Amino acid sequence: MEKKEIRIGLIGCGFMGRTHSNGYKRIPNFFPDLQYTPVMKAVCSRTEETVKAFAQQWGYESYETDWKALIARDDIDAVDICVPNNMHKEIAIAAAEAGKMVLCEKPLSRNLEEGKQMVEAVRKAGVKNTIWYNYRRLPAVTLAKQIIESGKLGKIFHYRSNFLQDWTINENLPQGGRAFWRMDANAAGSGVTGDLLAHCIDLAMWLNGGIEDVSSVTEIFVKQRKHEDTGHLEEVKIDDACIFHCHFANGSLGLFESTRYARGHKALFTFEINGEHGSLKWDLHDLNRLEYFNNTDDSNVKGWRSIHVTDGDQPYMDKWWVPGLSIGYEHSFVHQAADFFKSLESGEDCHPTFADALQTQRVCEAVIDSAKDRQWKDTQVEWKNQ
Ligand SMILES: NC(=O)c1ccc[n+]([C@@H]2O[C@H](COP(=O)([O-])OP(=O)(O)OC[C@H]3O[C@@H](n4cnc5c(N)ncnc54)[C@H](O)[C@@H]3O)[C@@H](O)[C@H]2O)c1
Repeated sequence: MEKKEIRIGLIGCGFMGRTHSNGYKRIPNFFPDLQYTPVMKAVCSRTEETVKAFAQQWGYESYETDWKALIARDDIDAVDICVPNNMHKEIAIAAAEAGKMVLCEKPLSRNLEEGKQMVEAVRKAGVKNTIWYNYRRLPAVTLAKQIIESGKLGKIFHYRSNFLQDWTINENLPQGGRAFWRMDANAAGSGVTGDLLAHCIDLAMWLNGGIEDVSSVTEIFVKQRKHEDTGHLEEVKIDDACIFHCHFANGSLGLFESTRYARGHKALFTFEINGEHGSLKWDLHDLNRLEYFNNTDDSNVKGWRSIHVTDGDQPYMDKWWVPGLSIGYEHSFVHQAADFFKSLESGEDCHPTFADALQTQRVCEAVIDSAKDRQWKDTQVEWKNQ
């Protein structure tokens, strides 16, 4: 079969630049039936030495040091944005206006207003778009979605989710600059809310529907940190920790917590959903397992079952090894890339689109506003099971 090539221009060669590049590289080997295939045409980062080495290491045909030059190229079909949050809007809008498909890292934007402009730009240009909320594509998480959609859990009462880290428990850690842009509100938009809770919220709404209103508290544990760019002590404006509760449109209650101050936890992303007939729980540290309690089981064997999601009839696993053998974090990006190319065949959207991710942005904004005003906030989310 003659493959249709999609020429990728990747911007940013840090953590996500690597996961996405790995994703593109695995497609021809593990998804050979796709009609569309990625060509790693160009990568962009600011310093020539870094970007040249990255291009060689990952197999990009060429490189640029100015993202505008990359977008201007005729031999790029899709722009993949892997840079800090403050650059998502400008790059995405420029790429859409140039008629390129746009794949963008999460969160969509620093705030709701920027997100709205991005959604409008891709809508106006009519270009294919997606946001890398990659955890949807872990097989155990996709299986949870299938179980929930089958109705096996019955009426849902509770949804709770955490994302816990501990890497900023150090008052000498600076903010800003290349390494610590997440600590700088100007670059990141918010702290754990946009960085970590955004993942929790995307999954929560995908699994359990729209979030209607929120009430939250946030905390900044270290109030001042040296800024890498200015060299001065500056006020910290990102949330170090955030806890919120909420109502879902289906009548269930939600409880969410994220922090970078939970000593001992590196990336403990969890969710649990409790329904009338059953419950599910999952955590990222044991990502191939889905815990399932089915209240309709015979009472003498009733209990939590731990499903090792590695069999060929479970989501995505027919593409990998043999039953019982695990896959990892990086596969969520391979799956998202594969689903993107599949969506080019079907003509359907590759969810979450920019418009879907804007709904997550609405919740994030309401969470931040609620903490600031110490009041419940409506989210204005419009969720159609995207
Ligand atoms: N999906 C996920 O789970 C996940 C995980 C981590 C990060 N992210 C998101 O990915 C994005 C990037 O995060 P990261 O962890 O890869 O950051 P990073 O700091 O590791 O890498 C950022 C890259 O952007 C480059 N860059 C910065 N300014 C640039 C410019 N003007 N032109 C070209 N390149 C520029 C940097 O040189 C660096 O290579 C962020 O939006 C972040 O929220 C998502």
